[in-house]
Amino acid sequence: MNDVLPNGGLIRKLWIGEAERYREHLLRLDPVSRRNRFAGTVSDDFLRRYADLSVGLDSVIHGFFVDGALRGAAELKPIGQPLPHEAEVAFSIEKPWQSHGVGSALLERTLLAARNRGLKFLHMACLADNKRMLELARKFEAELSFDFSSVVGEVRTPRATPLSVMREILADSHGFATAMLDVQSRLLRPV
Ligand SMILES: CC(C)(COP(=O)(O)OP(=O)(O)OC[C@H]1O[C@@H](n2cnc3c(N)ncnc32)[C@H](O)[C@@H]1OP(=O)(O)O)[C@@H](O)C(=O)NCCC(=O)NCCS
Repeated sequence: MNDVLPNGGLIRKLWIGEAERYREHLLRLDPVSRRNRFAGTVSDDFLRRYADLSVGLDSVIHGFFVDGALRGAAELKPIGQPLPHEAEVAFSIEKPWQSHGVGSALLERTLLAARNRGLKFLHMACLADNKRMLELARKFEAELSFDFSSVVGEVRTPRATPLSVMREILADSHGFATAMLDVQSRLLRPV
């Protein structure tokens, strides 16, 4: 939780109403990162629709912000109804912020959110040549199963405890305070 993040960045959850920020972030991904994130080629239009649908549904999205701009995200998407026990996790970090520990910090926060929601298995799918993602999955002791062109990492989360719930609440209250400061500073910016 006390991750040292590059460029004074911070991690907080995205709130409903921040779809535009998510959309702009996804559109800024370089072609390789975009391909890796979506396991293939996707159009700008696809990304616009994807961002609109993702924010505010069942997903929990943690964002990595630098100077108010969203530069990285981890999406936790529960699978199955009505009480899902599994979820998919997917990451997108803009190129200049890759390999600086942001993915590791986002995964840590995502695991905590999953644990507190009773999501016991997390699936992380990636292309087989995505070394960074594979290393990230290995680092968190994911069981990897290899397919022809893709790999699925599976991480088990521990049971929620009052302490784990408290850790998430504390992180959220800090995230809320910084989000409010960010809104204020954007409102006060000269036009
Ligand atoms: C894959 C991704 C999430 C990894 O996040 P990251 O912030 O770049 O990774 P981290 O800095 O936390 O590094 C995680 C581990 O990967 C390994 N790693 C880091 N940089 C690496 C590199 N250039 N080559 C190989 N392995 C690397 C290290 O083992 C590292 O752990 P360590 O620093 O404790 O040794 C990020 O690069 C990304 O979003 N890429 C584009 C989209 C994508 O590939 N999404 C994944 C599929 S959903």
